[in-house]
Amino acid sequence: MKILAIESSCDDTAAAVVEDGRNVLSSIVSSQVKEHIVYGGVVPEIASRLHTEVINSVVQKAIDDAGVTLDDIDAVAVTYAPGLIGALLVGVNFAKSLAFATGKPLIPVHHLRSHIAANYLTYKEFNPPFMCLVVSGGHSHIVNVKNYTEFEIIGRTRDDAAGECLDKAARTLGLPYPGGLNLDTRSKGGDASAFSFTHPKVDGAPYDFSFSGLKTSIINLLHNSEQKGIELNKKDLGASFLSAVTDCLCENTFKACEDLGFNKLAVAGGVSANSVLREKMSKIAAEKGYKLYFPELKYCGDNAAMVGAQAYYEYLAGNTADESLNAYATMPIDKAIY
Ligand code: KG4
Ligand code: ZN
Repeated sequence: MKILAIESSCDDTAAAVVEDGRNVLSSIVSSQVKEHIVYGGVVPEIASRLHTEVINSVVQKAIDDAGVTLDDIDAVAVTYAPGLIGALLVGVNFAKSLAFATGKPLIPVHHLRSHIAANYLTYKEFNPPFMCLVVSGGHSHIVNVKNYTEFEIIGRTRDDAAGECLDKAARTLGLPYPGGLNLDTRSKGGDASAFSFTHPKVDGAPYDFSFSGLKTSIINLLHNSEQKGIELNKKDLGASFLSAVTDCLCENTFKACEDLGFNKLAVAGGVSANSVLREKMSKIAAEKGYKLYFPELKYCGDNAAMVGAQAYYEYLAGNTADESLNAYATMPIDKAIY
């Protein structure tokens, strides 16, 4: 089954053709980074406008690159939640129109579910059940992936997402947008033990995260030193901060696996591209004898191939929609409705 998938939940306009949830026939991502860089972050209104400008050509290129025609496509899938509402609406309306005009089934896909499904593209034999750490710009979850379409949230952030926290730290350190990626590359070689940050815990909720205190502590540290005219080593500071954030992610995730008896663990979302996280998790997993799965770097950030992967399993579960499909800025991964 060939699915044409569309993704426009944030600042990437993406389309892909994916066969049977596993084989990527094409994957096009049109990034808006250049347009948002001057603002230091994504401007939602600009993101929506740019999606409308390129969505036609991005979808056409995905069809062409796959070496197929629209007739060969069996269904149209689209990210419908969660994300920037104006941005989501561009993809949802495009997909609805296309599905309606061609008479093909329409498959709504939850954004975080699709991030998890990026792992199915990288490992062809990989399947649920498994534990998954989902870390993106807006979410930090530890999820029990019971089967392809059934999820249980084991832990979640009580305030900021890990990606949001890294982006803010990067900005305070004077690094350009996209913050997380630049913090990762520019902190390489820094001394991760030069600065110490606490590892916040949430009372009575061992799998939940809290990143806002960590974010405030790096902002205060930098501002205080600036006021005193003290120059801090930013590479060391970046490396120390990344070490603290990734320690928190590892501690809770491995504790959840241990307590709930999982030895199969995946990581998903934009932050899964982080080199410190990948290294640290790989080391702990090897020590514990766990099987660990990371998406290929090209499928860590937002893309439509992962949407096509999850869409296949949503379709098999009977989760299709009609022209009344709407977009939603928020939507829990475990109780997705449309
Ligand atoms: O999944 P994603 O592309 O978009 C959302 O669904 O939010 O995740 C974006 C987040 C941003 O916070 C970005 O800074 C972070 O992923 N990110 C990284 C890296 N690459 C992207 N964070 C740390 N290290 C990276 N290499
Ligand atoms: Zn995402």
